[in-house]
Amino acid sequence: MADILDGKAFAATVRDRVATHVARLKEENGITPGLAVVLVGEDPASQVYVRSKGKQTVEVGMTSFEHKLPADTSEADLLALIDQLNADTAVHGILVQLPLPSHLNSDLVINSIDPAKDVDGFHISNVGLLGTGQKAMVPCTPLGCLMLLRDYHGDLSGMNAVVVGRSNIVGKPMANLLLGDSCTVTIAHSRTKDLPAVVRQADIVVAAVGRPEMVRGDWIKPGATVIDVGINRVPNGDKSKLVGDVDFASASQVAGAITPVPGGVGPMTIACLLANTVTACCRANGLGEPTDLTV
Ligand code: GUN
Repeated sequence: MADILDGKAFAATVRDRVATHVARLKEENGITPGLAVVLVGEDPASQVYVRSKGKQTVEVGMTSFEHKLPADTSEADLLALIDQLNADTAVHGILVQLPLPSHLNSDLVINSIDPAKDVDGFHISNVGLLGTGQKAMVPCTPLGCLMLLRDYHGDLSGMNAVVVGRSNIVGKPMANLLLGDSCTVTIAHSRTKDLPAVVRQADIVVAAVGRPEMVRGDWIKPGATVIDVGINRVPNGDKSKLVGDVDFASASQVAGAITPVPGGVGPMTIACLLANTVTACCRANGLGEPTDLTV
């Protein structure tokens, strides 16, 4: 049976570190880090995430600004709100919850955020900085995955990493982070030929495809580390349950270490969002940025 990588417990330690930095910023500098979250429309999953983000922001001592806009909000109105948040010195981080309603151009909206406040790391300039190995805002989910991997393995250099999924939110930035840690990185996706054989080469598997339990135990090299980014709600009798992109029952028999769903990567994402907000706040105020909140 594989070691379980307990993201829930690890996220709590990250939040403790964040809270310590927030208290210090308040006491020594009179600054309270602020995070603005913008939700357009009423997607139920997004509403749950946004509520959770707001709650945890307040719990670590930061200010939460929530902007809930109707689904038919015009692009001009959304861009005007982002301009206002860009100019607001009490706001150190801005997050626009995705997906946006289809009449809004997500790329345009994301790229209108001040890159220094882009705590999601989705702005084109942060993507470019990460891709060229420069100091960037790093997307929260991949950042959380890398923290878990480093915590378990220490040095990752020379390991074969296979990232399954090529999204801008997880797959691509994850591959860049692993490359930065000197892994040999493969990005696999729905068109990859003989995906099981590709995954079987991996010392590290990151599954981020959004397909319930797709990665099976017989795809996993014995002893490999498996990071499951998937959060899929599936029927379970007359109720439902959450499962990952990995078939935990079979994969945990073969892997050396594995993240559970729920309680693995999920809790790390919001913890890293809070960490990025403190980092952005320190940078905005010309203060030395914490070394224990990023990778
Ligand atoms: N939707 C799903 N994941 C994310 C995320 O990390 N950030 C934002 N803004 N929206 C999301």
